[in-house]
Amino acid sequence: MDDLEQLRSDLLTRIESADLDALEGLRVETLGRRGRVTALMKELGALAPEQRRDAGRALNALKTAVTDAIDARRAALETGALDARLSGETIDVSLPPRPEPDGRVHPISQAIEEIVAIFCQMGFTVAEGPDIEDDFHNFTALNIPPEHPARQDHDTFYFEEGEDGERLLLRTHTSPVQIRTMLVQEPPIRIVVPGRTYRADHDATHSPMFHQVEGLVIDEETHMGHLKGCLIEFCRAFFGVDDLPVRFRPSFFPFTEPSAEVDIGCSRSADGLTIGAGDGWLEILGSGMVHPKVLENCNIDPSRYQGFAFGMGVERVAMLKYGIPDLRTFFDSDLRWLRHYGFPALDMPNVAAGFAR
Ligand code: PHE
Repeated sequence: MDDLEQLRSDLLTRIESADLDALEGLRVETLGRRGRVTALMKELGALAPEQRRDAGRALNALKTAVTDAIDARRAALETGALDARLSGETIDVSLPPRPEPDGRVHPISQAIEEIVAIFCQMGFTVAEGPDIEDDFHNFTALNIPPEHPARQDHDTFYFEEGEDGERLLLRTHTSPVQIRTMLVQEPPIRIVVPGRTYRADHDATHSPMFHQVEGLVIDEETHMGHLKGCLIEFCRAFFGVDDLPVRFRPSFFPFTEPSAEVDIGCSRSADGLTIGAGDGWLEILGSGMVHPKVLENCNIDPSRYQGFAFGMGVERVAMLKYGIPDLRTFFDSDLRWLRHYGFPALDMPNVAAGFAR
């Protein structure tokens, strides 16, 4: 027992003055598998039972004392090291941050996000569909049967004929998603559909791939007044002009009746285009009440349900809102252009809305 007392005070003295490395050495030397205390523990078995109890207790107390002392010393050393570092180092908070390469949001993505955010606030949800479509969804179900003259307007990209004789195509508008949605969802329906669309057309104002946002509302009550109210509200919110003049001009689409094209007021001068002032008009949307035949093609009863649909070209409204003069630059992938016309990611309306909530 005297030996234990001696051992204990030896160890505690050494622990008191050990640095972090020495501390670990001490731990191994006493408590490790071949350590001194461990070895003494092993010897207990050879003692007579009454001696074994007292010796066991003393050894356990020693082990606890050494373990505690090592932990306490380690904690003290670590805090000391941190304190020393903190007092030795200075942080210059006035230094400018190193520039991080930050990406830009493409104006088309930005416009889609803004458009979708406005309609979502009105209670629409987002639906999507495939870029590669079949004749039924892109044309026939939309009341554009084979040989219908409206097909010629679409300058469709066709794939080669498949084994079943069917020619798939790149969708010429986002309207096929109206059909896909009505075929699987019971009214009430209230969707917006952002997506890519394709037409074999390439000049200063047309790109063979472009973007549309489609809208569809079907229920038992919605009428032309709702169409007008909804689209006027959208135009004013999107362009940020409270009293923006909005005009509905009679038009024709095979899948809506009546149909209307939507123009917004603008002025053209030598300085360029100003939205919301003057006596000029700019067309930005196609719209109309969903044709009863389209509802029938989707197994929806037109004597009970009705509603409206609209479609807009994203490039066009993006050019108008952000002042981008040339359509072709959208798809040149010129990084200098993107740095100039692109948006910081935190301006994305969905992200901003997420923070505000
Ligand atoms: N799909 C039409 C187009 O591409 C736009 C539209 C959509 C018109 C819905 C009316 C209703 O030109």
